[in-house]
Amino acid sequence: MATANLIQHPKANLGIPSTPYSSSSSASLKKKKWSNFLPILVVLVVIAEITFLGHLDVVENVDMVNSWADSFYHSNPAPELVDSCEAWLEKEDSVPYSRDFDKDPILGIMTCGIGCKFGDESSKKPDAGFGTPQSSGTAAVLRSMEAATYYPENNIGKARRRGYDIVMTTSLSSDVPVGYFSWAEYDIMAPVQPKIASAVAAAFISNCGALNFRLQALIGLEKENVNIDSYGACRRNRDGKVDKVEALKHYKFSLAFENSNEEDYVTEKFFQSLVAGAIPVVIGAPNIQHFSPGPGSLLHIKELTDVDSVAKRMKYLAGNESAFNESLRWKYDGPSDSFKALVDMAAVHSACRLCIFLATKIQEKEENRPEFQNRPCKCTRGSRTTYHIYVRERGRFHTESIFLRCVLFVCNWESDKLTIEALSSAVVQKFRLLKHVPIWKSERPESIRGGNELKLYKIYPVGLTARQGLYTFKLNHSSDLRKHIESHPCAKFEVIFV
Ligand SMILES: *[C@@H]1O[C@H](CO)[C@@H](O)[C@H](O)[C@H]1NC(C)=O
Ligand SMILES: *[C@@H]1O[C@H](CO)[C@@H](O)[C@H](O)[C@H]1NC(C)=O
Ligand SMILES: *[C@@H]1O[C@H](CO)[C@@H](O)[C@H](O)[C@H]1NC(C)=O
Repeated sequence: MATANLIQHPKANLGIPSTPYSSSSSASLKKKKWSNFLPILVVLVVIAEITFLGHLDVVENVDMVNSWADSFYHSNPAPELVDSCEAWLEKEDSVPYSRDFDKDPILGIMTCGIGCKFGDESSKKPDAGFGTPQSSGTAAVLRSMEAATYYPENNIGKARRRGYDIVMTTSLSSDVPVGYFSWAEYDIMAPVQPKIASAVAAAFISNCGALNFRLQALIGLEKENVNIDSYGACRRNRDGKVDKVEALKHYKFSLAFENSNEEDYVTEKFFQSLVAGAIPVVIGAPNIQHFSPGPGSLLHIKELTDVDSVAKRMKYLAGNESAFNESLRWKYDGPSDSFKALVDMAAVHSACRLCIFLATKIQEKEENRPEFQNRPCKCTRGSRTTYHIYVRERGRFHTESIFLRCVLFVCNWESDKLTIEALSSAVVQKFRLLKHVPIWKSERPESIRGGNELKLYKIYPVGLTARQGLYTFKLNHSSDLRKHIESHPCAKFEVIFV
């Protein structure tokens, strides 16, 4: 579909690879045949449409048709047409918000270094405060890193019913997740040390009385003749006065047994194991695979009946050096994109993410005003429609303008509209032109920062939870994108680069 692609990528000659669709499926082969007719078809449609658009100046129309023909055959759309729409939208859509966060920052308790900052001006009412709701206009924030199993008040639904406006917990479904991970705290790429311990696994479990089955699992592994050095108070057989991470480095496995099996509740037990290069044997978050840095990099005891098979796997890996080394491959090649996308969230302090969350909510509310509702958000010149959308990187407040184009008729055609590919390449192109530096750049260990290229990992509407953005939201088809853009004028998106 080269033609439509040209239309949607007027700057495609800047070197952005355009991938309108994969040519591997038979469906796309069928589409390809169609595309042979497209230039003619589209030009005909353009002329037909122009005939109807009586208000357009005739000379301009002729120029436009010529420029269309040009764009089809010389991949060179008329820049003045494109730019006039973009400039017009940029101006018309930019309704100023009543609050300028640079002059009138979000007020709260914590301080945040970037863009939007928390202050402490006693003369002004704060935007947010910890604890139960005090006065209207101040958002009540619940912040806790404890599992809801032990602290039921941390359950998101419960917290909302108790009147909290903003929930900050380890749950990726909370408004502003607070995880245990940070690049600064864990030297995740620390080199693997020789496994000199005689036992295969180490355990640091201080409390045998957890509400899950971790004690039974520990006993079960021992019964299966898995040799375990236990440094914690629970079934201790080693002196506990050691540096935990340094000690773990000598073992092939680390028993990362959390005290509750709760989604997203992943603590230092897991991350310290990764630092040490000891394969974590996990009891805890049912979605622990979301935290996996690479294929086969962890073992999961989902329920007590898994103990036998996990013990078997541990013994196999302990006895086969190359299979064991394969499980630690990420230590040499770098962690997976999904791991980076998840933990890079922590590159921005939770105080700053709270601040961005609040400012976004304030703007969202204001966007109900008529001035915002009346923004054009799209511009049609002849047969070409330019859609104005806004995109920002996760962890930043400021958005950038992106323009997506399509030809009226083709836009509504089932097989070719505002495509996901066009959006992705427009985003990468824009941020590349801006010489954008991803927000995690200075936080990640040097060996996994990558070069200067921008790799787009996810794109989703602003306002989703971290869980939705990372895992559940998906534009399955370009028609989803078109529907979203048409039902959300001047739609705002957030992107994750890896
Ligand atoms: C050891 O692991 C390697 C890599 O997974 C595998 O190819 C090999 O067959 C294994 N050896 C034995 C004896 O199981
Ligand atoms: C493990 O694999 C890495 C990379 O594949 C290699 O550099 C390293 O020497 C291997 N270590 C052992 C003990 O085989
Ligand atoms: C994509 O498909 C999934 C599963 O069918 C669905 O749950 C989801 O809502 C779809 N996404 C959009 C944006 O429609």
